[in-house]
Amino acid sequence: MGVVSSVYIATSLDGFIARKNGDLDWLDAASSTATEGEDCGYNSFMKSIDVLVMGRKSFEKVLSLGDWPYSLPVVVLSSNDIEIPDKIAGTVSSSTESPSQLCERLQQEGAKRLYIDGGITIQRFLNEGLIDDMTITVIPIVLGDGTPLFGATLKDIPLKLIASKAYDFGFAQLTYEVVK
Ligand SMILES: NC(=O)c1ccc[n+]([C@@H]2O[C@H](COP(=O)([O-])OP(=O)(O)OC[C@H]3O[C@@H](n4cnc5c(N)ncnc54)[C@H](OP(=O)(O)O)[C@@H]3O)[C@@H](O)[C@H]2O)c1
Repeated sequence: MGVVSSVYIATSLDGFIARKNGDLDWLDAASSTATEGEDCGYNSFMKSIDVLVMGRKSFEKVLSLGDWPYSLPVVVLSSNDIEIPDKIAGTVSSSTESPSQLCERLQQEGAKRLYIDGGITIQRFLNEGLIDDMTITVIPIVLGDGTPLFGATLKDIPLKLIASKAYDFGFAQLTYEVVK
C-alpha cells in the first residue's frame, strides 16, 4: 500500500474554510466556545501524521499568525519557488511537484501518512485520486461566501462515512473514506 493522504479541516456549514480575504475570525470565535481541553481529535490526528503538505496560500496565512505552530516536516506546494524563513527552514521545504510526484517521493523517504491542507491543494489531490480519508469538522455558521473546501471535480467522488460525532458546543465532525 502507498502512503495514506488525509484531510483534517474545519468548514462552515456551506463549505467555506476561510472568508474571501482569508479571515478565520468565525473559526476562532467558534473554537472559543468549545469545551476546555476538547481538541476534536486534532492532537491524536497529528500524532499519526509524518508530513504536512499545504498550499502556498495556507502557508502564508499560518506565517502571518506569528510563531510557527508545527514541529513536524512541512512541504509547501507552489508553482513558484517560495521563500522559507530561516527560522523554520529546518522542517519546512517548498515543492513544485505534482501531487502524485510528491506522494511517491515522500513514500520513498519513509512517510506513511500525509496531512493535506488548503482548499485548492485538497481539490488537486482529490482530483488525482490521492486522498484516502477526510475528517471534516462542520462549524455551525453559514458564511455565504469565502474560500471553498471543494470545487469542480473531474468525476464524482464517492465517500463512505466511517465516523460521525456531534459535540455539545455545536460542532459536527464527519470522517469519510474515499471509495477507490
Ligand atoms: N478552516 C480550516 O480548517 C482551514 C485549513 C487550512 C486552510 N484554511 C484557509 O484556507 C485558505 C487557503 O486555502 P486556498 O484554497 O486558498 O489555498 P491553498 O490550497 O492553501 O493554496 C493554494 C496554492 O497552493 C499551490 N499549490 C497547491 N497544489 C499545488 C501543486 N500540486 N503544485 C503546485 N502548486 C500547488 C498554488 O500556489 P501558487 O499560486 O503559488 O502556484 C495554489 O495557488 C487560507 O485562508 C487558510 O487560512 C482554513
